[in-house]
Amino acid sequence: MQKQSEGERGFSPFQLQPIEQTLQTFQWFSKMRAEQPVYHDPASNLWHVFRYEDVNQVVTDYSHFSSESIPGFSENSFLNGTVVAKDPPDHRKLRNLVNQAFTPRAVNHLSDSVTAIAQQFLDNVRSAGKMDVVSDIAFPFPAKVIAALLGVPDEDWDIFRRWASGERAEEPRKPGEVVQGRTMEEHMYTFFVHLLEERRKSPREDLISSLSVAEIDGERLSERELVSFCILLLAAGQETTKNLIANAVYLFTEYPDVAERLRLQPELMPKAIEEILRFLPPVWFTIRRTTSEVELGGQTLPANAIVMAWNSSANRDPEQFPNPDHFDIEREPNRHLTFGHGIHFCIGAPLARLEAKIVLPMLLDQLKDIKRVPDFPINVRAGIVYVIQSLPITFL
Ligand code: HEM
Repeated sequence: MQKQSEGERGFSPFQLQPIEQTLQTFQWFSKMRAEQPVYHDPASNLWHVFRYEDVNQVVTDYSHFSSESIPGFSENSFLNGTVVAKDPPDHRKLRNLVNQAFTPRAVNHLSDSVTAIAQQFLDNVRSAGKMDVVSDIAFPFPAKVIAALLGVPDEDWDIFRRWASGERAEEPRKPGEVVQGRTMEEHMYTFFVHLLEERRKSPREDLISSLSVAEIDGERLSERELVSFCILLLAAGQETTKNLIANAVYLFTEYPDVAERLRLQPELMPKAIEEILRFLPPVWFTIRRTTSEVELGGQTLPANAIVMAWNSSANRDPEQFPNPDHFDIEREPNRHLTFGHGIHFCIGAPLARLEAKIVLPMLLDQLKDIKRVPDFPINVRAGIVYVIQSLPITFL
């Protein structure tokens, strides 16, 4: 196979980059789908998978592509041992513990409280005529929703942000950084252990209360399993939906005619949200480990190969999506892989969709003539989740 250097490959994960560079990655994907759809990078020893059909196979066929023992989900990561890093049969047992709370029916019951939370953040900025979409709406809105669903106390809804920013002097700034003898992970751990203990004694109508007494095959989950589950739900519920909302507003400013159409025809919003998810996904890839030698896209992968399945590339595969680089809010069918597929299909998809369906029409209806602040550089932190850092806009 032809060898390529990092530079030729045209992408640099896990770093801050201008959004223009992020968008250029789609050209690299197009080239790779055509020329090397399953590509082994000798420098990193990773296998990259680009075509829709192959990405779908990787995320669906758990007998050959395992979610367990993947570097990064290692011993000290909070993802270790959580539902996202488990294969059957343990996967199903863990997933069953929270499935009921996230069905479309269950989350639809949250509509009124989600609307109230969205309104609160819109009210905070409306009279100013300007805001940073990321810090004023995209971050706090889903963070508050998931914190309420879990049962994190009101005053602590943004606890992750506060830990990460070191806003309170006694709290650490970065994962791994030690402040007053404790890392951010240790602070999180203690926080949830106390919360779980409290809810076990006085249960409420929230997810932490039900998790605190959850059993699998008659056995209680360990303290570590419980804490990791809470952190996974809180983190997944914040960071991903934040990007869906930031990406949506970014695309509204790139395609003002689309924004205007959605303002006039809000009934198009559900389909538009699916197209936003396909076109500029919050999560760009998922990772698996091969359990044995396996054929994929004409290549033979060895056992224990680490595979990066680029759902962001699959979403632009012309074999699946005619005219894939066209942003078409009425695209039908639109079977994007942004929420994954198969047994690990995102638990929170109904919640993320509900949040977007509520906040985006409110935003277009209440803030008129939305424009990006000219010349403000839009930067993206590229990792598994692609995060717009700051998106200042003005409106009337
Ligand atoms: C637009 C927003 C979101 C996107 C794009 C997204 C994306 C994904 C993807 C791609 C997966 C599959 C991972 C894999 O196959 O390895 C996943 C799984 C998961 N997501 Fe989401 N997610 C979003 C919102 C949420 C929300 C709001 C929650 C809230 C609880 C959540 C919780 C989870 C959990 C717990 C899993 C693991 C499911 C399993 O392994 O069975 N996600 N998500």
